[in-house]
Amino acid sequence: MSPTPDLTLLGISGSLRRGSFNTALLRAAIELAPEGVTFTTADLSAIPPYDEDVRAAGVPPPVATLREAIARADALLVVTPEYNYSVPGVLKNAIDWASRPPDQPFAGKPLAIMGASGGMGGTMRAQYHLRQIAVFLDMHVLNKPEVFVRGAAQLFDAEGRLTDEATRKAVRQELEALVTWTRRLRAHAHATHAT
Ligand SMILES: Cc1cc2nc3c(=O)[nH]c(=O)nc-3n(C[C@H](O)[C@H](O)[C@H](O)COP(=O)(O)O)c2cc1C
Repeated sequence: MSPTPDLTLLGISGSLRRGSFNTALLRAAIELAPEGVTFTTADLSAIPPYDEDVRAAGVPPPVATLREAIARADALLVVTPEYNYSVPGVLKNAIDWASRPPDQPFAGKPLAIMGASGGMGGTMRAQYHLRQIAVFLDMHVLNKPEVFVRGAAQLFDAEGRLTDEATRKAVRQELEALVTWTRRLRAHAHATHAT
């Protein structure tokens, strides 16, 4: 077995918009991922509004698919817009669905967060709300580096490619840190199980 096994990361964009800067940022992250990393992505567009009665009748297939993708992933990367100083309802709704017992799939997963906005905040406030949500989900959130993409319209070309070199470098650094963080947590888990 290789001493550094490949990692599967699940990328989630909190925007459903075709021309989304955040989905474009996730594409850039996939392109810039370090060697040995394979990305899958989640599609939140078919997740229904959370309704306990619907859940009681059976977990909807798009929710089951999302839960399985989270469970299979070694780590998560959530790329979120900021809506009214918080995470978009679409993202929170998907998290709420996926978080229901049994086998809450977020628990113990490493998480990195980034986000892009047109304004100067760069999704800072939304990211800190997501960190708070991740505490209850019992995730291991990467502290640094943080990636707040400000003035997004100037940093992507007409095809949605991230062209700004400084931002590309920041994205790459966050992914490298996520990989290191994930491997460290796994090594710790293995050591703990071995004793
Ligand atoms: C309902 C709504 C609320 C928003 N609130 C904020 C906000 O609080 N802070 C911010 O920087 N941008 C805000 N925006 C602007 C978004 O940053 C902008 O629409 C961004 O492009 C959304 O991400 P996307 O391109 O990935 O869809 C808001 C947009 C919408 C639709």
